[in-house]
Amino acid sequence: MILVTAATGQVGRELVSVLRLRGLAFRALVRGAALKDGVECVRGDFRDSAGLAAAMAGVERMYLACAPTPDQADLEMRAVDAAARHGVRHVVKLSAYDAHDANPSDFRRWNGVAERHLRNSGLAWTILRPTAFNQSLDPRAVAERGVLHSTQGAATTPFVDTRDIADVAAAVLDGTGHDGRIYDLTGPEAFTQPALAALIAKVFATPVACRPVSDAEALRELLESGMDEGFARSMIVHWQSYRARPATLVSGWTEILTGQSPRTLRAYLEECRAAASNGAPAAS
Ligand SMILES: NC(=O)c1ccc[n+]([C@@H]2O[C@H](COP(=O)([O-])OP(=O)(O)OC[C@H]3O[C@@H](n4cnc5c(N)ncnc54)[C@H](OP(=O)(O)O)[C@@H]3O)[C@@H](O)[C@H]2O)c1
Repeated sequence: MILVTAATGQVGRELVSVLRLRGLAFRALVRGAALKDGVECVRGDFRDSAGLAAAMAGVERMYLACAPTPDQADLEMRAVDAAARHGVRHVVKLSAYDAHDANPSDFRRWNGVAERHLRNSGLAWTILRPTAFNQSLDPRAVAERGVLHSTQGAATTPFVDTRDIADVAAAVLDGTGHDGRIYDLTGPEAFTQPALAALIAKVFATPVACRPVSDAEALRELLESGMDEGFARSMIVHWQSYRARPATLVSGWTEILTGQSPRTLRAYLEECRAAASNGAPAAS
């Protein structure tokens, strides 16, 4: 039995689909409504010991992820401790590129702290470290504005598709030989921000400029968009730390672990364009 946490998350919901397709026995830990299509669900929260105990009964392997919030590391560490108490043997943790417990980026540091706790837990573990998700981009909004604001200078990003991360997670949860492994996950190609703007322009058939903006201007824009101030400030530091240590290399792990080439950013942009042409609402 597999337990999927963060089953409503960007990666978790794809993982639920893949596990169903593979016919694997799994259940999901959910805080809100049960999932559709008869997926077995247990109501619980990482802070709720009774819910975790119920969710972990008979579970051998767990997919662990949580939202990027200041209590992320604490929540994930609670889940790891509960897994150790309740006989879970192997935890597959969704982390992030360059995660370590001294990273100035909150997002990477929170993951790094939780990773270290998992590695020291005595459980078998596997860590997935993706770069930025394709699905974090809203190309339709960029195409409509006609400009991509960038704080990234010359840094490249090999955007990765959440469906590839889910395929890798499923292969690890259903496979052997992954204990103690850290897999960096990327898409097949790294893009600078001007190259990203050019690709959006091509796919959406509309001019898109790339305009460098200062960190102060980027912060102002995030705040004007309604983003919580703490999260907005974390984003700015995250981008600063990414500029200092960008992901330049493309990893081959998706193909090695799933036997499939990773999905391209272009294919994702084309899906977004098709959804826009079919009248689907823009991503929020
Ligand atoms: N976005 C990116 O580009 C990117 C890139 C690399 C790495 N990452 C990493 O990916 C991870 C996030 O994964 P994701 O994007 O798949 O998830 P997500 O979309 O951020 O969703 C968060 C999930 O965590 C659940 N959750 C939040 N608090 C919880 C709690 N107290 N107890 C139990 N469940 C809780 C949420 O459940 P509810 O539905 O109930 O809220 C939801 O399912 C983070 O570690 C982030 O650093 C993100």
